[in-house]
Amino acid sequence: MRLSLSLLLALFALGQVNAARPAKRAYSSHDYYVFEYVPRGGASLDEVARSLGVEVVERAGELQNHWLVRTLKPPPHSIYARDTSLDQVTHALQQVRAKASSSHHSREEVQLSRRVANSVGYLEYQQLRKREKRAPPPTPGPNALGLETASAVAQRMKILDPEFPHQWHLVNDDYPQSMMNVTGVWDMGITGHGVITALVDDGLDYRSDDLAANFYAEGSHDYNDHTDLPTPVLFDDHHGTRCAGQIAAVKNDVCGVGIAYDSKVAGIRILSGPISDIDEAAALNYGYQNSSIYSCSWGPPDNGRAMEGPRYLIKKAMVNGIQKGRGGKGSVFVFASGNGGRNGDQCNFDGYTNSIFSVTVGALDYKGLHPEYSEACAANMVVAYSSGSGNHIITTDIGKNKCSTTHGGTSAAAPNAAGVIALGLSARPDLSWRDVQHICVRTAVHINPDDPDWEKTASGRPFSYKYGYGAIDAYQFVTAAQNWELVRPQVWVDLPVVQLNGGTMDLFQSTTGGVPIVPGGVTSTIDVTQEGLNGRNFEKLEHITIQVWITHTRRGDVEVELVSPNGIKSILAAKRYQDSDNTGFPGWVFMTVKHWDENPVGTWTIRVSDQNKPEESGTFLGWTMTLWGSAADTSKDIPVYDVPVIDGTLPPLIPPNSSPTTTLDLPIGTATKQHPKPTEHLGGDHGVAEGEATKVAFPGNEDIASTPAPTPSTSAKPVSTPTADEGWFSELSNLMSTQIWVFAALGAVAIFGIAAGIFFWRRRVRRRQNYSSLPTDTVPMSTVSGRPRTRELYDAFGEVSDDDDADEQTGLRSGMHQQSEGLTYHSGFLEDDPSTAGGLTPAARYKDEPDSPDHEHAAAPRDRPHSPEGSGSNNSGDGSWDHASDAR
Ligand SMILES: *[C@@H]1O[C@H](CO)[C@@H](O)[C@H](O)[C@H]1NC(C)=O
Ligand SMILES: *[C@@H]1O[C@H](CO)[C@@H](O)[C@H](O)[C@H]1NC(C)=O
Repeated sequence: MRLSLSLLLALFALGQVNAARPAKRAYSSHDYYVFEYVPRGGASLDEVARSLGVEVVERAGELQNHWLVRTLKPPPHSIYARDTSLDQVTHALQQVRAKASSSHHSREEVQLSRRVANSVGYLEYQQLRKREKRAPPPTPGPNALGLETASAVAQRMKILDPEFPHQWHLVNDDYPQSMMNVTGVWDMGITGHGVITALVDDGLDYRSDDLAANFYAEGSHDYNDHTDLPTPVLFDDHHGTRCAGQIAAVKNDVCGVGIAYDSKVAGIRILSGPISDIDEAAALNYGYQNSSIYSCSWGPPDNGRAMEGPRYLIKKAMVNGIQKGRGGKGSVFVFASGNGGRNGDQCNFDGYTNSIFSVTVGALDYKGLHPEYSEACAANMVVAYSSGSGNHIITTDIGKNKCSTTHGGTSAAAPNAAGVIALGLSARPDLSWRDVQHICVRTAVHINPDDPDWEKTASGRPFSYKYGYGAIDAYQFVTAAQNWELVRPQVWVDLPVVQLNGGTMDLFQSTTGGVPIVPGGVTSTIDVTQEGLNGRNFEKLEHITIQVWITHTRRGDVEVELVSPNGIKSILAAKRYQDSDNTGFPGWVFMTVKHWDENPVGTWTIRVSDQNKPEESGTFLGWTMTLWGSAADTSKDIPVYDVPVIDGTLPPLIPPNSSPTTTLDLPIGTATKQHPKPTEHLGGDHGVAEGEATKVAFPGNEDIASTPAPTPSTSAKPVSTPTADEGWFSELSNLMSTQIWVFAALGAVAIFGIAAGIFFWRRRVRRRQNYSSLPTDTVPMSTVSGRPRTRELYDAFGEVSDDDDADEQTGLRSGMHQQSEGLTYHSGFLEDDPSTAGGLTPAARYKDEPDSPDHEHAAAPRDRPHSPEGSGSNNSGDGSWDHASDAR
């Protein structure tokens, strides 16, 4: 069902492309790519496709101006097949870019190449990866079902579903305080009517008599087998069906009932095999005008070692969802916090659960206790009932008339929360994605009040890393929703980037500067002023994201905590005994909801410490944070957030008008990720094991005072954490040197062709060597940059090189395909337009609608100084922020 290009374009112009079903993929015969088409660049989509040698498949999910294209896989003997670090289309783009600045080609060719080069904003090969279900394993032995009656409810409500009395999460006779508390909502006649929840999972058995009547086929798709219906096929494809039953099992005589039993469910199948980023991105936006909630019970492995998040296109899809989904009210993403609690895993090491765009849901068990599998972190918003202390979740199973009695884990907690949210949206369809989060924070029930993990926040609400703000309660949620006053639009404030002792990290994660992590830890502070908040139209705080650059020989030893001006502490990273990774936190972003509604004015302190082991060490290079909240004045222009393409460098190497929240992803080049089965991490006794309510989530951290930490010993004092002024200059000089070396590289190719020849010859000799082993003196322009950024230089040199021997290219990029990002950046410097040739205003190319007037205000002016215009006055003139100051 491939559409012709002109038809696609016509549809695109009419904004109706989403009516088309995704085309069947042929991953075995073709390579797939996603690119961002920049109409402003001047080339038609057709010209771009021809120049890159690709065939346009379809629009890439719901991402505007992004297109899915494909090309036949290279023949077995081609250079591309021999060297997997090189791919055809990226190479073709490199050739186009080389031609754009070449003098060996005709004027027409050069101009076409320029237009094409400028029309490609982003290009990425689509690698197939596998997501991990958070499914519990089948549990051997009988169920420890102790009760037989919830019969009064069943009788009064004429519930004939045979398993309803066993669905303790709906009515719990033994521990009546431990349930989702839905019957009062049903009594009000609110049963989910009109709301659709999409289960992004391993399928949904729409043939089940318990789901058929509530199945929403139009919102369903199978991204594993590329068919319209999400049919469970594999032996263990029962997870999505079970989760769907929790939400919308029909009130009939089959199995049990769902929390929102008159709502509908769609199935989007992605977990039954490897999928590409763009298919995952498209899945998270599939049918997003009609489906309101995306229930996601999967993520990176819960092994206590992984630190992984959504990559660029997926983040972009989530942002697209909250901005454009549901008619602009925003898709509600619900993510399970993870089952790795016993492995010391924490949900702040998972970029899906610590996204501000998702509601993160942990688990509570049958007795209302914390099951040890459920992960704790400062990004946990609420908990919902699931397996543990002798019981599981009873729900629909695959088959015509089947019931599961072994469902559980945080996998089952998330759909229970999604079911409650469906009830809330049924009562109040106008709630935005943020209203939903606000109501979660405000109405969650303070269970186990004696648990030492609870702490009072500045707003007076109790918060726990294990429970978030508490148990989501259907009655409390819906009644609050009924009277809810909608929150104002979201705004955010990027605080200055602190570089400790001139700390830097480039795209390749090589570093300079920074402060060694010494006993007692290293602290650093950032000041927030009321004037600064006013200047950003910022009224009330919600989430905080904190980006850190830390190297360490053993990541699991590192502890990171943030202390607010009011002495409220968020533990962002506690030690993880399983995590012996040596890559540290290269621009990783943590998130905390613990400061919700707190007044952020004053000094914020971050402390980075480790376990003081003599054999392990690390360096704290820098950090920054972003405050997210509501707008003070809605009559002002409200900026629209966009995901930066590159956000892992220190200082940030990003367009001046974009905003960061996310980490640098290395697009491809690292080996294909095959996530292990989650069942490896959720013990087989997850439903049987007794929970607890007596332990703090992160023992060992409580001895660190809740006030700004004492200063480290004098020897550890960060010598030159820059003031904002110094930071600004260093960043500016970085930007300038970035451009200088690009221009220098361009010039060098043209003028010193012979030198380049020698350079490439020498590199050929070394092409199998690591980047880091390449001596700097082989780079002719190394002095131009004035900074030890050798590897970036290689990258820049390679991109603009005119070298036709593709083998040569590989030496530039061994082990990585960073070029998709690098190329994106450097393309700006090829433009004829003098207004953008300076390279300081390429932001527009990252926007979806570069020519739309709406986007003139598309991004907030960042506090991070990127351009002289943007920030020259920032440090002294408007006094928005006190200086990012040194740790003492
Ligand atoms: C559960 O719902 C009832 C109404 O049916 C309500 O009175 C009660 O407060 C709710 N329980 C909790 C813990 O909020
Ligand atoms: C959404 O719902 C409307 C009204 O029911 C329907 O016309 C439309 O086709 C649906 N859109 C999608 C993408 O399913």
